[in-house]
Amino acid sequence: PLRAADMKKDVRILLVGEPRVGKTSLIMSLVSEEFPEEVPPRAEEITIPADVTPERVPTHIVDYSGNEYSLVGEANVICIVYAVNNKHSIDKVWTSSANFLIIAMYPFYFRLPLILVGNKSDLVEYSSMETILPIMNQYTEIETCVECSAKNLKNISELFYYAQKAVLHPTGPLYCPEEKE
Ligand code: GTP
Ligand code: MG
Repeated sequence: PLRAADMKKDVRILLVGEPRVGKTSLIMSLVSEEFPEEVPPRAEEITIPADVTPERVPTHIVDYSGNEYSLVGEANVICIVYAVNNKHSIDKVWTSSANFLIIAMYPFYFRLPLILVGNKSDLVEYSSMETILPIMNQYTEIETCVECSAKNLKNISELFYYAQKAVLHPTGPLYCPEEKE
């Protein structure tokens, strides 16, 4: 049988979110397997070759930059990053202009799976899950959520794996709920 993984040429993951939540650090941490103390404003697009990804599909990771709205249209999955210690960045998940645009584009583009990413988990003792649960419940586009830390490398590879999986094996109700197992 033809699997989604056979048909997908590659996966494009886009990271968006408020300034300073750690988008660039997450990408650089994944690449170098250590926390970069200094990061540029924006990471270069990186491509992970098929044979080192769990799903064997070339995967591109793109750091969102201010006004390049076209990046949204090219993405297969969007990671909306907030910082677990920054309530403002959580509130902004659905109200920042970039994310607002994602929602506005929904009817026009293939409905993208979204992943909520709570970064900087090293800075707090508590979980942000309770705060984001109402958002999760309200928006079925959200495939999953994950708390992670670019600093201590917690859940970094998992995060990118979830993103890849959301494209290749979508489970959300957007995709034919009757076929859901
Ligand atoms: P902009 O490009 O300005 O939108 O920011 P960004 O979202 O790319 O964040 P960036 O990676 O530049 O990180 C912002 C600050 O947060 C930097 O000082 C990072 O060192 C710090 N930071 C990023 N990730 C973590 C983390 O997991 N834990 C902690 N403690 N600090 C982090
Ligand atoms: Mg950045």
